[in-house]
Amino acid sequence: MTTPQFPTNRPRRLRHHPLIRELVRETTLSTTDFILPLFVRPGRGAKKEIPSMPGNYQLSVDRLTEEVGSAITLGLRSFILFGIPERKDATGSSALEDNGIVQQALRALRETFKDQIVLITDECFCEYTDHGHCGVLSKQTGRLDLDNDATLPLLAKQCVSHAKAGADLVAPSGMLDGMVKAIRAGLDEAGFTHLPILSYAAKYASAFYGPFRDAAESPPQFGDRGSYQMDPANGDEALREVELDLAEGADIIMVKPALAYLDIIRRVKDRFGVPVAAYNVSGEFAMVKAAAQKGWIDERRIALEILTSIKRAGADMILTYFARDAATWLR
Ligand code: PBG
Repeated sequence: MTTPQFPTNRPRRLRHHPLIRELVRETTLSTTDFILPLFVRPGRGAKKEIPSMPGNYQLSVDRLTEEVGSAITLGLRSFILFGIPERKDATGSSALEDNGIVQQALRALRETFKDQIVLITDECFCEYTDHGHCGVLSKQTGRLDLDNDATLPLLAKQCVSHAKAGADLVAPSGMLDGMVKAIRAGLDEAGFTHLPILSYAAKYASAFYGPFRDAAESPPQFGDRGSYQMDPANGDEALREVELDLAEGADIIMVKPALAYLDIIRRVKDRFGVPVAAYNVSGEFAMVKAAAQKGWIDERRIALEILTSIKRAGADMILTYFARDAATWLR
């Protein structure tokens, strides 16, 4: 195809009328694209703001229910839950309890909101272990490190426990090899063949998670997550990770973080054509909030531009701490 040259071709013809601009717009953001992350903690009446994530809170179950109720009135319907347990130990055993903090939250939200909402659970142990790594540790590799195969059955148990408590979708985030396969088998065996898996398939070892680790009280107590999360320098490897997770039965693929990895979102979408989620993570949110508080940027325009760019890159859904603000702005 040869494009006619100027002056026959004037791309500005489609830009000068605001309504024509809207007609030719390729990407639209919708409130139903957003998944709001929520942090649940023990107690009653607790609503503790997370300093580096303005407008986000650690909530006790009762306050969480209020928060979800108000989010629903904004048009939001999908939520991902993170738990801050009462007790941590070496294996993260409190993650598996019937009456664990996320299990309690699931039951309360399901009871109150029935089928009006989609409840997603982050499946990982870093919030529940005293060492802050994403599963159990061993010295199999010569140094103390996350033990992949010993963690898999625990992960499957965690997912089944969340499914029983009312989760609609489980989202393993530990970047363990074989995690999707182990979870699929565990769910199927427990009768949850219908429950989809949203795999954090391409999750990078990123400094952008800093504020989240304060929020979830989950920073590693030694070392870092470099032995399980991906090197930010790699792109082809993300495609291999995604291919493996799809072969193991993942229903939705996540790329995380989003903003510094838009190329990965696009490559995954182009190559596999499966539903893609992108996680607009805590550090991406905090940077915008901080600059906005200083009056250096226009928060609303910047946030909507970022979210639009993530969709334009190929994401079908976005996990974002801007969900409430964006829902309000998009009204
Ligand atoms: C748990 C988990 C993390 C995030 C989501 N799930 C932290 C981590 O991997 O250290 C980060 C989310 C964010 O920064 O908003 N494994």
